[in-house]
Amino acid sequence: MSILKIARMGHPVLGVPAEEVADPTSRAVRALIEDMIETMIDANGVGLSAPQVRVGQRVVVFHAPSGEDENEDIGDDSASASLTVLINPVIEPLTDEKAPGWEGCLSVPGMTGSVPRFTHIRYRGFNPAGQEIVREARDFHARVVQHECDHLDGILYPHRIEDMSLFGFTEEINRSFTMAEEAREAGDEQEEDAAAE
Ligand code: NI
Repeated sequence: MSILKIARMGHPVLGVPAEEVADPTSRAVRALIEDMIETMIDANGVGLSAPQVRVGQRVVVFHAPSGEDENEDIGDDSASASLTVLINPVIEPLTDEKAPGWEGCLSVPGMTGSVPRFTHIRYRGFNPAGQEIVREARDFHARVVQHECDHLDGILYPHRIEDMSLFGFTEEINRSFTMAEEAREAGDEQEEDAAAE
């Protein structure tokens, strides 16, 4: 296993569609997945796609809530997040509704942006044992899957941002949102934000 170098926005591999994996059970795919997981954990990422490690194959890894119940309460219990590997994934939106949410990407380091995503999807793909995975996902879980699968089509989250005033350096955006929040909560006795700055 090894930690791979992550391509950043501008690298050509991130801008082209990745190829279908012919055999999800192959030794080469297994080795790629092991390296991707190690790389994602090392980089503190929620997800990672093969193009980000310069491999143009349709493979993604991500942390998702465990369980396949569409009613699962996702996003508020990171302890239940389980690692998912998806080969040749396909997404089907189950609603027309999109909601905005902040995203970051290991290929766009230091930046964040608000991206509209479908709030309810079904996704399918194969695991490294060659078994089909079919799941429904909502909200944060659905967002992560859409973000990672976009990479397989050469799409980075900044391309999906509709209001570019909601895109910038994470540090600046966190600061301005913290300030706005503090202004709102002025007079409120509870302020546990890091007021050190
Ligand atoms: Ni990304």
